Amino acid sequence: MRILHIISSPRHDGASVTIAAALIETLRERHPETEVDTLDVWREDLPEFDESVIAAKYKWVDGEDLDAAEARAWEKIDALARRIREADRIVLGVPMWNWSIPYKLKQLIDLAAQRNLLFTYDGVHFGPAVDVARADIVFVRGQYYGEDGPTPGSIFDHQVAFVEFFLRTIGVRDVRSLILDRTWDPAAEEAIADGVARARRLAASD
Ligand SMILES: Cc1cc2nc3c(=O)[nH]c(=O)nc-3n(C[C@H](O)[C@H](O)[C@H](O)COP(=O)(O)O)c2cc1C
Repeated sequence: MRILHIISSPRHDGASVTIAAALIETLRERHPETEVDTLDVWREDLPEFDESVIAAKYKWVDGEDLDAAEARAWEKIDALARRIREADRIVLGVPMWNWSIPYKLKQLIDLAAQRNLLFTYDGVHFGPAVDVARADIVFVRGQYYGEDGPTPGSIFDHQVAFVEFFLRTIGVRDVRSLILDRTWDPAAEEAIADGVARARRLAASD
């Protein structure tokens, strides 16, 4: 099995990385032949999606020739999308940042999510260009997002729905989420230990 492990927290001893690592360890125990491709959005040197890259995108869509700089940027985008397409399983750790996702993860999505690389579009309908069996996502957040609390998820949570929607839309067939609240209050240690135990169960489930 080929796992694409996407790290989106800059903290390598943080909650999302710790819990995703436990998940991957359990997957390795179950599937000893597992290969892990780690894509750390903070270390990947992601290009800016600037004016020239946008120009390259439209030239590419229209089948026009790219200049050397555009071609270099496009090669990187193509390679990122390929790593997503080639995975059998995606393991993704996502801390909540300002009720949403870290901007570097959004940068990866904006770079890789190109028509015919991750999705298709016929002028009316969107379809998947990826066929990945499963994604296990570890969402961590400092606060509590229960509907009975001061920050109910139905209003404050702009993290989970977007990532799940994105992965399903590009063609991940089975998207499973482990959502862990309260990673910054006094019970953080206990919450993370609970997250590790839940990650092991998630990895052990078919
Ligand atoms: C820039 C930044 C913004 C954050 N915004 C929120 C937030 O809106 N809501 C929340 O519950 N926690 C927020 N947190 C807390 C993190 O989600 C929490 O500490 C999480 O465990 C971080 O994941 P990590 O340990 O894997 O880095 C924020 C943390 C940072 C660094």
